[in-house]
Formats: sequence, structure tokens, C-alpha cells
Amino acid sequence: MSDYTFNHIYNTIYEAGCNAPGEGYQEFPYKPDGLKLYQNIYELTYLIYWLARKGYNFNLGVDVGIAFGGTTKILRDLIPIKKTIVIDNCSEVPTGAYWNKIKDRVNSEIVEEIWEDSLSETTREKLTKYAGEIDFVFLDGNHSKETVESEIELFYKLCKNGALIVFHDAFSSGVGVFDAWCNLRLKKDKRFILKAAFLVTMPGIVVFEVVKTGSTDDTMSNFDKNNSKTSKIKADNK
Ligand SMILES: C[S@@+](CC[C@H](N)C(=O)[O-])C[C@H]1O[C@@H](n2cnc3c(N)ncnc32)[C@H](O)[C@@H]1O
Repeated sequence: MSDYTFNHIYNTIYEAGCNAPGEGYQEFPYKPDGLKLYQNIYELTYLIYWLARKGYNFNLGVDVGIAFGGTTKILRDLIPIKKTIVIDNCSEVPTGAYWNKIKDRVNSEIVEEIWEDSLSETTREKLTKYAGEIDFVFLDGNHSKETVESEIELFYKLCKNGALIVFHDAFSSGVGVFDAWCNLRLKKDKRFILKAAFLVTMPGIVVFEVVKTGSTDDTMSNFDKNNSKTSKIKADNK
């Protein structure tokens, strides 16, 4: 178990700061070369504190929708995540330039940078190499219900048993993330266990654990047959 206190985590995130007033979410001070975190500081602090207290130590984390990469960096400053895959289709912010400035300081081996839609065939091909190795997923890309549901199916197959899938914007109004994760609960989907939820104001964070059932449906081998529609979903960004 990590011995980070709540205050240490809060202060680390706070000091990361924003690049300019008004950037990112609330409560961040202006700081030149800040990390441009698109986060509610308390919710991110609670998430990281919870992960640290539980002693999570990840092998391969995938962050979908990294924007400037600040959350990817902070998470890895505070939680051990040995290897990292980042995915962003650069539809909202010019991710690349800023990410290139900070990526060498990310406390993890960056094994893939995928500048594509999370559900594209190229993305799927690149990710399939890591099937069964992935034990942490942070979903914060396209927030439509259809996209998030397809990402859930994709990452369920790619993840190992006991992996965590974190949903960002889990309680934001007007986006489909809430419907997507609620459906897992309403359908009593036995493949996922709700582990934690953090909501201070908005956007809210929910964490599920992946339970592999042992069936062949759990694997990537027949993903195309069951999910051929996923690659056709259009990105309708929030
Ligand atoms: C809300 S921002 C993410 C904020 C970031 N996670 C943070 O905490 O700073 C959403 C990001 O997702 C990316 N995005 C949107 N739709 C996507 C998709 N279908 N596939 C991959 N990335 C996507 C956007 O380019 C944008 O950078």
C-alpha cells in the first residue's frame, strides 16, 4: 500500500496547475508549463487516494482521450503503472505538441501512442498485441453512449481478469457515459463489478473491475464477429 496522504496527492495535483487562467477545470492556479488538467481536483485526488490505499500496482495502463496528457502524467507520478498506451484522435485539442513536451517525464514506459479514433481498426490491431496484459483503462475520449459501450466491449476483451476500467465524466449531464455505465448495473452484467464512484461536483469518476468468465467470448478472437459495428461508429465528440 502506498503511504501517500490525501493532502500529498491533492498538493501534487494542485501544483501541477494549468497553463493559463480558465484552462482545465476549477481550483487550479495559473502556472507556466502547467499540466492543463481537465479534471475536478477533488475527484482526481479521491481516485488516486483510493487506488493508492488499495495498493494497486499496474502492469499496462491505457488512457483513451489524453488531451494534453496531464492526467496521464499525474496518475503515473502517484500510482505505479509500468507500461502505458495513449490514444487520442486529436479532435478537440492539438494533443501532439504538448504531449511531446511532457512525455519523457511520464513515469512509465510509453509502449504505444495511437493518434486515432479509439474504435478504429488500426487502433484495434495495435491493441490486440497487448490482449491479456492490460490491467488499467482510463476512458475519457468520445462521451457518446454508443462509443463508450463499444469501448467497454473492446476493453473487456483486451483486459486481464481483475483489471480496472475508469470512466471519466461519469455523472456529467448531456453525455452518454452515465447511461453506458448505468446499463452495466441495470443489466446486472456479471462481467463488471462496480468498485468505486467519486463525485464532488462534476464531472464524476466511476471505477469498475473486469471479471473474466473464462468463456471464449472473453477474448479478442471473436471480437470482429460480435462487434463489427464498432469500427463504423462515428465520433460525435462532446
Ligand atoms: C475531455 S478531453 C480528455 C481530457 C483528459 N483526459 C484530461 O484529463 O486532461 C477528450 C479527449 O478525447 C479525445 N477524443 C474524442 N473522441 C475520441 C475518440 N473517438 N477516440 C480517441 N480520442 C478521442 C479528444 O481529442 C480529447 O483530447
